[in-house]
Amino acid sequence: MRTEDLTALAVSMRDRAYCPYSRFSVGAALECSDGSVFTGCNVENASYPVGLCAERAAAAAAVAAGHRDFIRIAIAGGGPRFCYPCGMCRQFLAEFSPELEVLCLNGRGELRELTLGQFLPFGFDAGALH
Ligand code: THU
Repeated sequence: MRTEDLTALAVSMRDRAYCPYSRFSVGAALECSDGSVFTGCNVENASYPVGLCAERAAAAAAVAAGHRDFIRIAIAGGGPRFCYPCGMCRQFLAEFSPELEVLCLNGRGELRELTLGQFLPFGFDAGALH
């Protein structure tokens, strides 16, 4: 998928966010190696820690559909700052694709492109368990 289409999907997913507590809507669009794309938005809860980030919603949708080979994710937040994935999402995404490309957008639609390895160097992974 073209980069502008992936980022546009992430931006449009912000409209689906359920974020009555933070009022910070986030949309995500996750591309897999076969070209399939899965989307997510943040889903908050009155019990605050129960809330779910957009990136993990998208990744869970992909896994549930049988896709684990993630290549790129676009993350769109509404503020002036780029929407970088939180620590929990970095770990969650690294389980499947430690070298994932991460396209971070701010509310003006500006883009910053990084890799998950930059966000989470020396991550804990399955190899550490053995
Ligand atoms: N949030 C995400 O969905 N993704 C991020 O990368 C950062 C934070 C959500 C969680 C919460 O619903 C709101 O943004 C404010 O933290």
